[in-house]
Amino acid sequence: MKLTLKIWRQKDANTKGKIVEYQLNDVSPDMSFLEMLDVLNQNLIDKDDEPIAFDHDCREGICGMCSMYINGRAHGPDTEITVCQLHMRSFKDGDTIYIEPWRAKAFPVIKDLIVDRTAFDRIQHAGGFISVNTSGNTQDANNILISKYDADEAMDSATCIGCGACVASCKNSSAMLFVSAKVSQFALLPQGRVEATQRVLNMVKQMDEEGFGNCTNTGACEVECPKSISLTNIARMNREYLKASL
Ligand code: SF4
Ligand code: FES
Repeated sequence: MKLTLKIWRQKDANTKGKIVEYQLNDVSPDMSFLEMLDVLNQNLIDKDDEPIAFDHDCREGICGMCSMYINGRAHGPDTEITVCQLHMRSFKDGDTIYIEPWRAKAFPVIKDLIVDRTAFDRIQHAGGFISVNTSGNTQDANNILISKYDADEAMDSATCIGCGACVASCKNSSAMLFVSAKVSQFALLPQGRVEATQRVLNMVKQMDEEGFGNCTNTGACEVECPKSISLTNIARMNREYLKASL
């Protein structure tokens, strides 16, 4: 396939960025999207040009690093997958593809397609953990009975990979889907109830301090989430927050 790639280039957070056009020939439909970018970068390096900076790590849909907008959609045209799982067979010969970084005040651009998502780390540090008694009398977690329904719901919430697509696709840049998934995965389990009150209050406070917007229930986050994190997590977090505030 021959492709025209229009890619956001930006030297750093303080320099104005712009779309730059590249031509790429001999793209195999079997390549992943990131492999296609690897080939483009090798071509740029061969010409002594600066390669395009983009985040990636696992390349198997579990780390949440490979975050970018492709043709105006977070993680590209296919649903329920990350960019690293997207393959070039989803595009046609002669296509023009626009590739841009996440756009959100709380995710400033570091370089080209890489944005700073440490705001998510700080929200996690504010409450995304449990404390375990390690005095020697620690109870085996398998001794604590948990209903299948709650275990499944907690597991579904825990599949959030922190990619930030929910923020990027929200017109308000709200992080409610991410934070609610992190609150829910603990709220549903007895181990998470011990610190539940402080957890939800602290994580929501940190979310607000980071500059994420408010949720207005448009649901774009759920549509673009590669892990199908449900809006019911937001409803659960709101209930947890109300209980904690009272
Ligand atoms: S809720 Fe979905 S879109 Fe948001 S960070 Fe988690 S996995 Fe990514
Ligand atoms: S590189 Fe890890 S999810 Fe894509």
